Amino acid sequence: MALKIGVVGMRGIGTKHAECHDENELADLVAVCDVIKERADKGAEKFGVAAYYCLKDMLAAHPDLDIVDVCTGGYENGSWHFEPTMEALEAGKHVLCEKPLSNQVVEARRMVARAEELGLYLGCNLNHYFTQPADEAMERMDKGEVGEIVYCLHKMGFPGGELTYGGAPSGFRDKGFPYFHVKAFLAHPFSIMRHFCGDITHVQAFMDKPGYRRTAGDVMLSVNSIHVRFASGAVGYLLSQRGDTTFGLGGWWSVEIGGTRGSFVIENCVEKLTYYPARGTEGAAVPENMGGFDSPTPVVTNTGITDFGATFPTRIHAFLEDVTNGVPRADLRSSGRDALATLEYTFAAIESYEQGGILVRPKALPPLHGQVEPES
Ligand SMILES: NC(=O)c1ccc[n+]([C@@H]2O[C@H](COP(=O)([O-])OP(=O)(O)OC[C@H]3O[C@@H](n4cnc5c(N)ncnc54)[C@H](O)[C@@H]3O)[C@@H](O)[C@H]2O)c1
Repeated sequence: MALKIGVVGMRGIGTKHAECHDENELADLVAVCDVIKERADKGAEKFGVAAYYCLKDMLAAHPDLDIVDVCTGGYENGSWHFEPTMEALEAGKHVLCEKPLSNQVVEARRMVARAEELGLYLGCNLNHYFTQPADEAMERMDKGEVGEIVYCLHKMGFPGGELTYGGAPSGFRDKGFPYFHVKAFLAHPFSIMRHFCGDITHVQAFMDKPGYRRTAGDVMLSVNSIHVRFASGAVGYLLSQRGDTTFGLGGWWSVEIGGTRGSFVIENCVEKLTYYPARGTEGAAVPENMGGFDSPTPVVTNTGITDFGATFPTRIHAFLEDVTNGVPRADLRSSGRDALATLEYTFAAIESYEQGGILVRPKALPPLHGQVEPES
């Protein structure tokens, strides 16, 4: 039977989520909610469901709801996630929450802990690795075609430059927040690095902004240069920026992961995977036919997909599938705990920057307890 869904926060992203539920056979969208009446009413009319103006009323009217999908935003795009998430969990509902889980790591820790205590699923919309290139790269890793990971180089951000600069942020969610980009955005690139390379144990960061932002009185630290070490021993580097320049190689989104048996690069998130077999491995060109610096011929998969929006239905489907199948909570894809990891790294980066670039060990994640499989 389809899962009954209520979406909270019906602006751009909430409407996108509602569309995904509406078109998914595992979901039965029954209600939408926004504290601004016109937005809730507009969503209700579009999807032919009931409108509510506070979550309490939505929960009371639909005691059979299975999932509350939290698409509120707030300061730094995350300050309005804690309250509706906790309210829905206390009402016994599974929750899918937008990223970042919160703009405060202490709140995110409480959200993850409470879901675990109540035995409920808490998922997060870390949608950037619900793609064909990421799946194919993971298949190659699982088959041993990448080997031991040596390094991860990741660039993700917004193209721009001083000629397209629109002035200091003026919205309620970004105005006056130096860490707006850091808190609102880094959940995505950190989720990619952790997806492929595992937990991060050491973080060192430099942050700054170009002169034209300074002149405009813009406090946002729009350039983030972050060096990390993974628990595996691999090293990594993340460069994120918010519209101060264009990225050259790979455009707005690229990740390069180097392993002892092969390396891969994903470009434009959804679009292209290039696999570079290492010399001597199966699939590599005959080494004696190659000169000193020649590399074996790469294998390119071009999906033909360029719209990043394609990640939303895929990620939301994965959450619906996991809840439908009753997977062990520890196996939930893109879980609240995964999202908490990205916030621990984000707050470690902030601490490193504030202390002049010191090395910071992110706080350890809560343990995974696993669940006993029923005897068959
Ligand atoms: N995963 C992605 O790729 C991606 C992309 C963009 C934005 N986001 C995230 O999506 C979230 C929403 O983004 P947006 O641009 O639609 O935000 P928004 O601020 O434009 O809209 C949020 C809506 O939530 C409503 N709201 C706030 N608190 C509420 C509450 N307690 N109950 C009911 N309604 C409430 C507001 O009235 C508003 O209409 C943000 O957290 C953002 O970080 C994710």
